[in-house]
Amino acid sequence: MKKVVVTREVFKETIDFLVDHFEVVPNQEDRLFDQQELFDRISDAEGIQTAGSDLVNDKFLDAAPQLKIIANTAVGYNNIDVQACSRRGVVVTNTPGVLDECVADYAIGLMISASRRIGEGERYLRAGQWKAMYLKQMLGLDINGATLGLIGFGRIGQAIARRAKGFGMRVLYHTRSRVSESVERQLKATQVDKRHLLQQSDVVMLILPYAKDTHHLIGEQELQLMKSKSVLVNIARGGIVDDKALIKALKQKTIFAAGLDVYEGEPQLDPEFLELENVVLSPHIGSASEPTRRAMAMTAAKNLVAFLANGDKPINLVRPN
Ligand code: GLV
Repeated sequence: MKKVVVTREVFKETIDFLVDHFEVVPNQEDRLFDQQELFDRISDAEGIQTAGSDLVNDKFLDAAPQLKIIANTAVGYNNIDVQACSRRGVVVTNTPGVLDECVADYAIGLMISASRRIGEGERYLRAGQWKAMYLKQMLGLDINGATLGLIGFGRIGQAIARRAKGFGMRVLYHTRSRVSESVERQLKATQVDKRHLLQQSDVVMLILPYAKDTHHLIGEQELQLMKSKSVLVNIARGGIVDDKALIKALKQKTIFAAGLDVYEGEPQLDPEFLELENVVLSPHIGSASEPTRRAMAMTAAKNLVAFLANGDKPINLVRPN
């Protein structure tokens, strides 16, 4: 039987499904293996179900000479050197489609939380500082009627726009290619250039993949273009924002607040973020609802089975750029 390694804990039904088709090496204790232990585990694997936090590079691929497929349990795949995989004939798959609505919900949560200072209010209350209610207490920004600027307008971006319509928000978007007029009409979304989006939006939201050309897409100059009463939300990937520049903007209050689910170098993050009141911080949990994470794990496993057990085309093939 072909051997498949699952690098991190998944739901039981995923292991049960894989076991019907493969010899499976699971990690249901969710141990964090050191590099050598991991490399020993994958040495004769033909398929690997990776987590978004696993780094798949030439060294990793050298350790798995039998490898035919990497099924990443995430829609993003910047943790994988797809070119290196392709050079070795290793197929890469991801999990698009099953997490769009869940991530869109979370994006709205971060937007409201940052705009209305929910985290700050809770810290204040828990610290026993709330002595009275008063008119000017913790004044935030309105979401209703505000302008939302989405950088990235794929499935998740469009799911966010659908929600924003319900808040009476005006939606601007910036992408490389324009979506169809019918989608624009349906979502009441207008394509604009990046500069215009940054200058006009009350909330700038990032929902695009990380790649070399999106590295520090939001840096000091871009932050300077944003309104002083605006909010930046990053639910995409660390590295798209220059975190140092963002910390400076938050400290100097050249923007109002930020809501962040991702960071440069995560799970480490710049400790200066922790000192700031005007930022909402979460540990990359945008897709973390139970049904969604179950669906993501099963999608990755189905890709393994389709390709490695059934000899079919993988369902969610990622192509090298
Ligand atoms: C989560 O960040 C994902 O890419 O699925």
